[in-house]
Amino acid sequence: MRRYILYSNTGRTDGDFNINDLPGDGGRMDLIARSVISSLWISGEVRSDVEVTVCLNGPPNPPISLKFNGNNIQGLRPNERSIGHWIKKTLNYSDTLVGCEWSNPTNSNIQISKKDISELIPDNQEIYLMDKNGEKIKNVNIKNPVFIVGDHKGIPKKTKDQLKNKSKKISIGPREYFASQTITIINNQIDKKI
Ligand SMILES: C[S@@+](CC[C@H](N)C(=O)[O-])C[C@H]1O[C@@H](n2cnc3c(N)ncnc32)[C@H](O)[C@@H]1O
Repeated sequence: MRRYILYSNTGRTDGDFNINDLPGDGGRMDLIARSVISSLWISGEVRSDVEVTVCLNGPPNPPISLKFNGNNIQGLRPNERSIGHWIKKTLNYSDTLVGCEWSNPTNSNIQISKKDISELIPDNQEIYLMDKNGEKIKNVNIKNPVFIVGDHKGIPKKTKDQLKNKSKKISIGPREYFASQTITIINNQIDKKI
């Protein structure tokens, strides 16, 4: 399973945001929706071997993590409004969460939990921290990957320090791309090798 983790510094952690204002009220929920689309969709098809987890750290109740699995998501369509709608619906349950277990409150199969980014890192996969100053992706033998991608503000230094000994920094080139573009480029790089 190819996995992505998107770190969102500002994404709202309850459902109390205006679906018509995903960038402002949603704390850049537009960026999150585009990253989910880039992770899970190609034209006319869902990638059934990809999972993306978004770690939200905006107000009012951070952290909240949302997990989307291409193998079982239902009802979502590859546009920002549809993804935003289902995120909002799922976040409406954020104050009912008990402990850090995953819960599946809607029929979209988006899972939600109180896990923070350190609790999302699996022991049995290679962790790649996406960073433009890392090793070139074409020189890395990518196996069983988890790619960690930052939002418009990037990955906080504290989180980078926590992950330092567990991850490898890799780069898709010297230019700085949007999070969603980074994910598209990684998917394409791996697709070309399959
Ligand atoms: C818009 S960039 C973040 C910009 C932010 N100002 C910063 O300092 O990180 C969004 C994310 O995409 C990833 N990214 C962007 N360009 C990249 C590159 N050339 N190589 C690897 N990852 C990249 C990084 O994970 C980054 O945090």
